[in-house]
Amino acid sequence: MNNSKIWLSSPHMGGAEQKYVQEAFDTNWIAPLGPNVNGFEAALENYLDHGSFVGALSSGTAAIHLGLILLGVQTGDEVICQSMTFSASANPILYQGAIPIFVDSEEQTWNLCPLALEKAILDRIIKGKKPKAIIAVHLYGMPYRVDEINAVAAKYGIPVLEDSAEALGSHYEKQKCGTFGVIGVLSFNGNKIITTSGGGAIVTQNKEIKDKAVFLSTQARDNMPHYQHSEVGYNYRMSNICAGIGRGQMEVLDKHVQRRREMHAFYYNYFKNIIGIKVLTEPNDSYFSNHWLSAITINPEKTGGKTREGLRIAFEDANIESRPLWKPMHLQPIFKKYPYYGNTIAEKLFENGLCLPSGSNLTDFDKERIKMVLDLFFNN
Ligand SMILES: Cc1ncc(COP(=O)(O)O)c(C=O)c1O
Repeated sequence: MNNSKIWLSSPHMGGAEQKYVQEAFDTNWIAPLGPNVNGFEAALENYLDHGSFVGALSSGTAAIHLGLILLGVQTGDEVICQSMTFSASANPILYQGAIPIFVDSEEQTWNLCPLALEKAILDRIIKGKKPKAIIAVHLYGMPYRVDEINAVAAKYGIPVLEDSAEALGSHYEKQKCGTFGVIGVLSFNGNKIITTSGGGAIVTQNKEIKDKAVFLSTQARDNMPHYQHSEVGYNYRMSNICAGIGRGQMEVLDKHVQRRREMHAFYYNYFKNIIGIKVLTEPNDSYFSNHWLSAITINPEKTGGKTREGLRIAFEDANIESRPLWKPMHLQPIFKKYPYYGNTIAEKLFENGLCLPSGSNLTDFDKERIKMVLDLFFNN
């Protein structure tokens, strides 16, 4: 039997990528600018709609860093960040010499809890500093509670930096994720729903912000014949080669979303009769997740002692990758000295949660292998 590795989420080429990369070679646009960069940005702007301007960058992390700079975050400022996320959401706060303030999740979307967020803001104001920005994340592609988070942000006049690295193709009330924050962030890392091998983008509805992001990402060179710099610059622009891959990937984005959603439906149907398992699912029709990763929680008190670690090892033994949910930032050695607001929702998600193979390129045979492990583990 073919026992090749089944990955959590691996790159999935559509076919047109090489044509755009070849064009870059044929025209010698082997640089961090060129027709593919412009074309990829235009394709994303068209896809996201909502008057979006997109700046293609070298990574999602670079986009978050520039986003914080553009929101005016400086040394000593406080920035609120969803604790339940990947470290790349929070690291750029430290790049700026700012202070992360971590906030718990709510149980339905696993994202920023609006109540804990407001408590955190009020307490930071009482302690003497209003937070400069809020980093909210659409974890695993599931939109956060957009209306409630935006309402709290607006009440206190704090801009939202929307980390949509995992959520290209998701929407809330028919509006695409990436377009809700003052600044939105996308990632095209190798494991994402579409990839440029490595890459990211900044999204904004304000052309001046986009132009400033591009300026900063290309070493902040003043408009002079010689090299003159009045601001600190960065080398964060996307390469025209990577953007060529991105243009090809845009042609299959909708198909990838559909395939990932089919994987989610497969797990949802499998687990619906198994007590103690919850599959992360849209709370109601306002939410549409790309289901970048399908994820479950396993409650050992209800599964007769079967744990997430037990299932992870069963998958590993069958050469199938699965992964615990993100370890919350307030529990990370690098971040644990910073303030945290909330309860133990993120901690419990980490303790009991597992991401399951979710790639858009998984075959029926892969699904059979996954199902066999589940059947054996749950005596199903
Ligand atoms: C939630 C989240 N934020 C930020 C990033 C950073 O993106 P990148 O890997 O493109 O730097 C990622 C993914 O890697 C992510 O999952």
